[in-house]
Amino acid sequence: MLKPNFKEARKRTKEEIKVLRDEYKVPLEMKNIGKNKKYFIKTYGCQMNEHDSEVMSAILEDMNFSKALDYDDADLIILNTCAIRENAHNKTFGMLGRLKHLKQEKKDLLVGLAGCMSQEESVVDEILAKYKWMDFVFGTHNIHKLPEILNEHYKSNKLEVNVWSNEGNIVENLPVKRDSKYKAWVNIMYGCDKFCTYCIVPYTRGKQRSRMPEDIINEVKDLIKEGYKEVTLLGQNVNAYGKDFTNRDYKMENLLEDVAKTGIERLRFVTSHPWDFTDKMIDVIAKYDNICNYIHLPVQSGSSRILKLMGRRYTKGSYLELYNKIREKIPNCSITTDIIVGFPGESKEDFEETLDLVKKCKFDSAFTFIYSPRKGTPAAKMKDDISLKEKEERLYALNALINDYALETNKKLIGKIVKVLVEGVSEKDQNMLFGYTDTMKLTNVKADKKYIGKIIDVKITDAKTWSLDGEIDG
Ligand code: SAH
Ligand code: SF4
Ligand code: F3S
Repeated sequence: MLKPNFKEARKRTKEEIKVLRDEYKVPLEMKNIGKNKKYFIKTYGCQMNEHDSEVMSAILEDMNFSKALDYDDADLIILNTCAIRENAHNKTFGMLGRLKHLKQEKKDLLVGLAGCMSQEESVVDEILAKYKWMDFVFGTHNIHKLPEILNEHYKSNKLEVNVWSNEGNIVENLPVKRDSKYKAWVNIMYGCDKFCTYCIVPYTRGKQRSRMPEDIINEVKDLIKEGYKEVTLLGQNVNAYGKDFTNRDYKMENLLEDVAKTGIERLRFVTSHPWDFTDKMIDVIAKYDNICNYIHLPVQSGSSRILKLMGRRYTKGSYLELYNKIREKIPNCSITTDIIVGFPGESKEDFEETLDLVKKCKFDSAFTFIYSPRKGTPAAKMKDDISLKEKEERLYALNALINDYALETNKKLIGKIVKVLVEGVSEKDQNMLFGYTDTMKLTNVKADKKYIGKIIDVKITDAKTWSLDGEIDG
């Protein structure tokens, strides 16, 4: 048994990051273990987790498992979890309650836990105390070991816990079974070294490690050959890409430019921490047509005092300066953000600063959250004397403002022609297709199904807070 350890997870040493190219193997006895069996993976959390699930799917298919459409249909279930806020945590434990019943009905069902919650000491302790009926737990650092972990479980028939808390290496040459045929996630870095005081990610994902540019560019070139139209470069803090290289000077602006030059039709990247956003990056985004005019720039708070307590290392003023620079140099750029309300000690005045920043920025849209204390982070020890009711009221007021601006910016698009990558048939209306503009706006399009997978010109006919309606132009 290998349990997670936060003290180890917090460590950042000068130890060199290794790129491991032959680490993934399926043991001979596991090659056919999934014959006539089906798997189901439930993914919580961010795009990184979604992409990790695509890797887990491919690993399971390498063992001959096939994909189930739902829990009820599966012989093996993995919950790929998120630890960012308490509600993500609760959702997972709620689901485990349901799965316990399913397992009572279906004795051979295997249930495993993966992702960021597996990296939390308290979660694994709880599983060992109250969820002994589960079959396996592995973390974010050893996804490539899934065949061996399953093998151990088959041998012992006991709960197999195998979670690493090292800073992490880079494991290349992992298989991947992508959910979409048109758009693909590409990791450019793992981990995070920013240690914002409220955030669990540096503990669950380890040290910042940038993939070699050649590996990223080759992956994108292969995707183009396979017909992919859109690539999203993934990292918790993509602007810090390359800062961990010891033997070369190669940063995010270089990577963005080199990936843009591959000719991929659309290039996106998430997430950008304002701290590392350079002028050179802005210039590269402005220069290349295939780099989408869309930047997710989480601000978290409009109060410089709170930003300091959060460890974000920018102020309200410097954020606005960067924001305005982007707006000026990249016309028509859509900018979205993340905001936390009710951080420990956030006063009414601090919250007013956040509202003021939102009024100045008029974001295209935003994800807003009530602060959730995460065990082991510095903020969890800070005095938090604001009532939940007050926090909810702040969230409500903030959302009302955010929604007004979202609708206002969307309405400006009525009558305009925008490019949409059509992804499929709309769930709500079988006669409509859906896709995203290059500025990341969800668009419902009246067009023939033959356009699925294509980038088409769409005339916008109506605008809502969260989406646009349109019809194919010409
Ligand atoms: N790496 C990204 C954020 C990843 S987490 C960045 O630095 O911008 C996504 C969002 O979750 C964060 O931007 C933040 O708004 C929110 N979040 C993170 N920890 C949180 C916590 N403890 N409580 C509430 N929201 C949190
Ligand atoms: Fe968390 Fe901050 Fe890292 Fe983002 S940059 S993942 S908020 S520690
Ligand atoms: Fe959640 Fe882990 Fe992503 S905590 S947001 S799944 S990095």
